[in-house]
Amino acid sequence: MPEYRTHEYDVLVIGAGGAGLRAAIEASAAGVKVGCVCKSLLGKAHTVMAEGGVAAVIANVDDRDNWKVHFTDTMRGGQYLNNPAMAEIHAKEAPARVLELEAWGALFDRTKDGRILQRNFGGHKYPRLAHVGDRTGLEMIRTLQDHGIHQGIDFHMECTITRLLVHEGRVVGAFGYFRERGQFVVFRAKAIVLATGGIGKAFEITSNSWEYTADGHALAYQAGADLIDMEFVQFHPTGMVWPPSVRGILVTEGVRGEGGVLRNKDGKRFMFEDIPENYRNQTAKDEEEGWRYVQGDKNANRPPELLTRDHVARCINREVKEGRGSPHGGVFLDIAWIKSRVQNGEEHIRRKLPGMYHQFKELAGVDITQEPMEVGPTCHYIMGGIRVDAETQMSTVPGLFAAGECAAGLHGANRLGGNSLSDLLVFGKRAGEYAAKYAQELAIASVGADDQIEQAAAGALAPFGRPDDGDNPFRVQRDLQKMMQAHVGIVRTETEMLAALPALDELEVRASSVPVEGNRDYNPGWHTALDLGNLLTISRAVALSAIYRKESRGAHFREDFPEKDPEAARYNTVVRRGADGSMVLETTPVVPTTEVQKAVIEEMG
Ligand code: FUM
Repeated sequence: MPEYRTHEYDVLVIGAGGAGLRAAIEASAAGVKVGCVCKSLLGKAHTVMAEGGVAAVIANVDDRDNWKVHFTDTMRGGQYLNNPAMAEIHAKEAPARVLELEAWGALFDRTKDGRILQRNFGGHKYPRLAHVGDRTGLEMIRTLQDHGIHQGIDFHMECTITRLLVHEGRVVGAFGYFRERGQFVVFRAKAIVLATGGIGKAFEITSNSWEYTADGHALAYQAGADLIDMEFVQFHPTGMVWPPSVRGILVTEGVRGEGGVLRNKDGKRFMFEDIPENYRNQTAKDEEEGWRYVQGDKNANRPPELLTRDHVARCINREVKEGRGSPHGGVFLDIAWIKSRVQNGEEHIRRKLPGMYHQFKELAGVDITQEPMEVGPTCHYIMGGIRVDAETQMSTVPGLFAAGECAAGLHGANRLGGNSLSDLLVFGKRAGEYAAKYAQELAIASVGADDQIEQAAAGALAPFGRPDDGDNPFRVQRDLQKMMQAHVGIVRTETEMLAALPALDELEVRASSVPVEGNRDYNPGWHTALDLGNLLTISRAVALSAIYRKESRGAHFREDFPEKDPEAARYNTVVRRGADGSMVLETTPVVPTTEVQKAVIEEMG
């Protein structure tokens, strides 16, 4: 048995993005001993890729806004597959979480009279996104980190968890290794909060960075937890498409929130052509009306660029496929045009969108105050994930909690922009609170599962002992990404998705024989070899769930079943590990809306 260190906590939080930090802060405030593990350095999290704002009904810019509208927008955006209890908690608690963050030092942009400024975003009826230019996620992480660091939480950086330890049906700890020198580590904990983010690295074009290899989803699955809604993968409509080295990097929806418009190569605003039924009376009929809306005219309807992400991404995809795209396979996003409408236009754009200005100037040589950007869809987020209780965030495995992107339920079939940042604050707090409570109430110590530690260590070392004629881990990862993009991407068909299954079998065989050279010190090949297992497991969950859902809804669009099926609105897909180790797919009835919630949705039209 190789050596390992041991740490003991009441609550262990795995992941230190917004949800993980917020959970750790709350658990620590409850007086329990808290450890927090992050895969890279503290502060480097996908939270920073939610740039344009955090959605919360503070109603500073439009006083017609209230929790009922936010709740209804979230349910409609998620095409009613959401857990309505989560959508209600989220809409009601988000404002307090944002104001608390402000009290901890977050510096939001201000209205003229000094209140938090809010901007428009797709699918939100009123300007609702509190923001810091286009660096909102970054400011949130900075604030949570500054606050959390003083709460007595132990942080373990550059540490990857490869296995959860389960004893007598409940979670008792986690096994992992420190990435720098490869030392093994065991965390004994009474409760664990998973907050590991998403699965973006399963796709070729993504806004996610190297950390997002589906770790939390796969750890929970291996520990016996249910995953739901895994077919719903969000492709953000606007990522960079050029140059190739930066393809996929996010271009915030805030650009469209500030008046940016989408055009095809013929200069046409193609989004006017295809307004979905459920937004027909809310979307501008001409360019002037859309601009008035962006300027805050309460009687105007939204511009079609601010329809939900699933819809905008598909329209862009269609323009490109039908030969009306930009030179590098995207479409044009133009913010420079607003110079004719606002005073000091160039300065206005630079002040509202400083990150985008620098990103395009430095990475693509494009001055967005003068010329349009080239953009196209990029894999950004997964709505599916660990099934949790709406109040407590506990998964179906006792002692295992989840929050943020790796948890599911709030967003249903499609997430509204800005709802991820409020999600991670609201449910990160709840996960920390209830995990601490669970740990405090648990009379027994976190022991057992020693055989699992041994297996986890052997599994982690396995790639070193393989014959050196096997495949290269980076090549296997790249082939997986290309395959998922092609077969289970934005537009899906049965034939293509069925072809993904044998492809996954083959990739699994290749992954299980990848050898790794050298030793455990600073060895990215080894890290990638270990990440492959999670990516492959979760790619299969996505493919199986997507094959099962024979309709188009939210982010799941099937060319062979382009319409919604009312029967399919009644269930969420569930994936779990069967007794023989194989993946089982089932359905579960959607969580019913209460009479009060139904009345709210009706009242909101
Ligand atoms: O476009 C954006 O700024 C992303 C926001 C989000 O994903 O919530």
